[in-house]
Amino acid sequence: MSYLFIKNANELLTVAGSSSSPAVREQMNELSIIEDGAVWIENDRIVETGTTPDLEKKYADKLRQAQVIDAKGKVVAPGLVDPHTHLVFAGSRENEYNMRLQGAKYMDIMEQGGGIHATTRATRKASFEQLYNESRPRLDSFLKHGVTTVEAKSGYGMDWEVEKRQMEVAKKLGEDHIVDVVGTFMGAHVIAEEYKDDPEAFVDIVVNDMIPAAAESGLAEFNDVFCERGVYTPDQSRRILEAGREHGLLPKIHADEIEPYGGAEIAAEVGAVSADHLLKVSDQGLKMMAEKGVVAVLLPGTAFFLMTEAADGRKAIDAGVPVALSTDRNPGSSPSTSMPFMMNLASLTMGMTPAEAITASTINAAHAIRRGETIGSIEAGKQADLVIWNIPNHLQFTYLYGINHTATVIKRGRIAFD
Ligand code: NIG
Ligand code: FE
Repeated sequence: MSYLFIKNANELLTVAGSSSSPAVREQMNELSIIEDGAVWIENDRIVETGTTPDLEKKYADKLRQAQVIDAKGKVVAPGLVDPHTHLVFAGSRENEYNMRLQGAKYMDIMEQGGGIHATTRATRKASFEQLYNESRPRLDSFLKHGVTTVEAKSGYGMDWEVEKRQMEVAKKLGEDHIVDVVGTFMGAHVIAEEYKDDPEAFVDIVVNDMIPAAAESGLAEFNDVFCERGVYTPDQSRRILEAGREHGLLPKIHADEIEPYGGAEIAAEVGAVSADHLLKVSDQGLKMMAEKGVVAVLLPGTAFFLMTEAADGRKAIDAGVPVALSTDRNPGSSPSTSMPFMMNLASLTMGMTPAEAITASTINAAHAIRRGETIGSIEAGKQADLVIWNIPNHLQFTYLYGINHTATVIKRGRIAFD
């Protein structure tokens, strides 16, 4: 048995109370803070939280065998969860970034064969080893920014062999790296270039061949689609998500990013775990998501990097939708691995308080990948994934913006970064 004792936290943000369903409305502002907080950890599990004097007394006989971390003057919070990344791909697209800075548009670049198509060409050419070696440093960077679990989508193969390779790399990275990786199949990222003139034929392949194979492989828990004009229509998206569901892959959707297109409504209809982006979501879509408890995964870095107005996080929270945050780490629309920066942006561009940004990046982000029962808060029985932040109170998290406040990351009860 190994013991770890974290003590003297200026603020221990347990974010307790929302493990069975995500936090909504005013619950998103409640961090269940313990001042002079302490956490007792045995092996990879949280055993108890409380004040430092209380836990020191209670665990007095085991304390001598424990590793002790003094968090004096600091904030202790749950490990951050990133529920939407395109982690595994080859190459990079700073050339398109430079074109966009001179007026080119993201969707136009893609329609002309760049964008997702460009990364697909590079990824199709890459071996397992190349994909692994290019993707692993991204996980190192996530860890340094306090992230202990990430979701990872396929979608730069768009033929089964390459989609599978991407998911195998994600799985191997999850096994080798201290950060946990959760797999999502996204064969329906765009219509593969070679099916440009017959998109329905590609949808048939996704539905009839790739989805059953993805489910069978055990490499993915979720099935995602990019529902947007010029990519997948609402009808195609519904068909793809329902097919996934029939094979046991839970639906997720890239919805209403560029224009209102009915993606949020589809998410509610098919019982999606999350609908992501939502910059242009309709009021009806938000209402339906709130009724069904679909998590809104908002990606403020994508809006920032594409130089567009961010999603209205305030409005989503006030409508009763559970909100989560993510980097959307990908080479085209958001090449950042900094969840803390996303939290800064959530406050400064989406009207979210620091407390709401923290809830959105911990317990609600865990719910967005169906992990709310095991991670995302500091509660007895949960996996011991915690971060000690170099700030005296949680308001400074998004007030001191653009700074990585990570002091120490603890993953499964072990110091993973210090
Ligand atoms: O979430 N919207 C679609 N997919 C990604 C972008 C992928 C890329 O540009 O390579 C996104 O923004
Ligand atoms: Fe994405």
